[in-house]
Amino acid sequence: MRIDILTIFPEIFAGPFDHSIIKRAKNKGLAEILIHNIRDYSRDKHRRVDDYAYGHGAGMVMAIQPIADLIDKLRGERDYDEVIFLTPDGQLFDQPTANRLSTFQNIILLCGHYKGIDERLREHYITLEISIGDYVLSGGELAAAVVTDSIVRLIPGVLGDETSALSDSFQDDLLSPPVYTRPADYNGWKVPEILLSGNEKAIYQWSMEKAIEKTKTRRPDLLKGFE
Ligand code: ADE
Repeated sequence: MRIDILTIFPEIFAGPFDHSIIKRAKNKGLAEILIHNIRDYSRDKHRRVDDYAYGHGAGMVMAIQPIADLIDKLRGERDYDEVIFLTPDGQLFDQPTANRLSTFQNIILLCGHYKGIDERLREHYITLEISIGDYVLSGGELAAAVVTDSIVRLIPGVLGDETSALSDSFQDDLLSPPVYTRPADYNGWKVPEILLSGNEKAIYQWSMEKAIEKTKTRRPDLLKGFE
């Protein structure tokens, strides 16, 4: 899978994709993440990428030309499954969306700033708008990193244990049950006996009960499908 990220702050992406699972995905050739500096496509002599908003008072708007040129160039090189704009007024990002995006070959993630991007980009270029939560970030970069992380780990072959992404919280509308590792007794705090029993059926049943219990108390909204 190839992910092209369009930003005016490419430096922000120096860290998040160079560790752990995303790094492994890149090294295995399963994910390619390319960072493009929108400023490099500005035709303004000062490399400006923003301008005053028509009609409204305060606030700058990201201009159409540099972003349109960059997307045109990328689309001239390959087909894209989605051109995604990260924005607080987009559709709320969730696990089913991550699952769907992880099946794609090529996607573009556009990071916004200031008061937003010229509406004509949204009308003519953007195919999907995503918010990662009901709060406002100073730009779309961290949201793009979150979306990238959540989809790259789902690409087949990225996680060592193929089944582990399936048992994540949210994959079956349940939060994950508690997990434990050695020692079985830490200063008197004991791991539940059943997990040491070797009885796989009983362990599965216990885990399901714990998952349902946790989901009931923390996220009852997720249980609607079970009732
Ligand atoms: N840009 C600013 N805030 C955002 C959010 N909550 N989600 C996605 N992009 C954003």
